[in-house]
Amino acid sequence: MKINQIIFRPFRPEDVEDVLKIASSRFKEKYSSSLILQIYNYFPEGFLVAELEGEIVGYITAVPHYPTSLRVLMVAVKREHEGRGIGSQLMGRIETLAYMKGYSSVKLEVRQDNIRAIGFYRSRGYRTVGMIEHYYSDGSDAFIMEKPLNF
Ligand SMILES: CC(C)(COP(=O)(O)OP(=O)(O)OC[C@H]1O[C@@H](n2cnc3c(N)ncnc32)[C@H](O)[C@@H]1OP(=O)(O)O)[C@@H](O)C(=O)NCCC(=O)NCCS
Repeated sequence: MKINQIIFRPFRPEDVEDVLKIASSRFKEKYSSSLILQIYNYFPEGFLVAELEGEIVGYITAVPHYPTSLRVLMVAVKREHEGRGIGSQLMGRIETLAYMKGYSSVKLEVRQDNIRAIGFYRSRGYRTVGMIEHYYSDGSDAFIMEKPLNF
């Protein structure tokens, strides 16, 4: 698989079950197809998928976080396709969208024990700007990370 074989495109409602499968396999939180569709309907342009030969292999969702940030709610890549740049491409596309729409930063929350994701964000310019205790349903805390957008 080469990164240029991947198509990055807007999410479509018929993708919901494929996205839910990835979410269920990659996150401890429980998601449902109706929640995923609600996120999409709230801000459709912030929901992108990565497709390889007709198969959805990753996705990202982001929503406005007023007044100045776009907030990434989820980014996930199928385990067997990790480490090939798909997550970076998804983040880069959301950062470009945020910049084009005039936001000054991208923000996100990440589990404090998700060492790999924290490293992934840090190497893409995100810095820890705060924490939220008991943010996740199992009581885990979150780091808030932020990247200023000055391309
Ligand atoms: C975090 C996540 C989206 C990254 O996606 P990805 O497609 O693997 O990302 P990339 O390939 O662009 O980059 C992965 C980084 O890990 C490195 N890496 C090396 N080997 C790797 C491997 N076997 N698997 C994953 N990453 C590997 C890559 O070189 C890259 O390093 P860099 O940050 O120094 O460039 C993905 O790991 C994932 O879905 N994790 C589970 C869900 C999650 O935790 N999401 C984030 C919290 S909301």
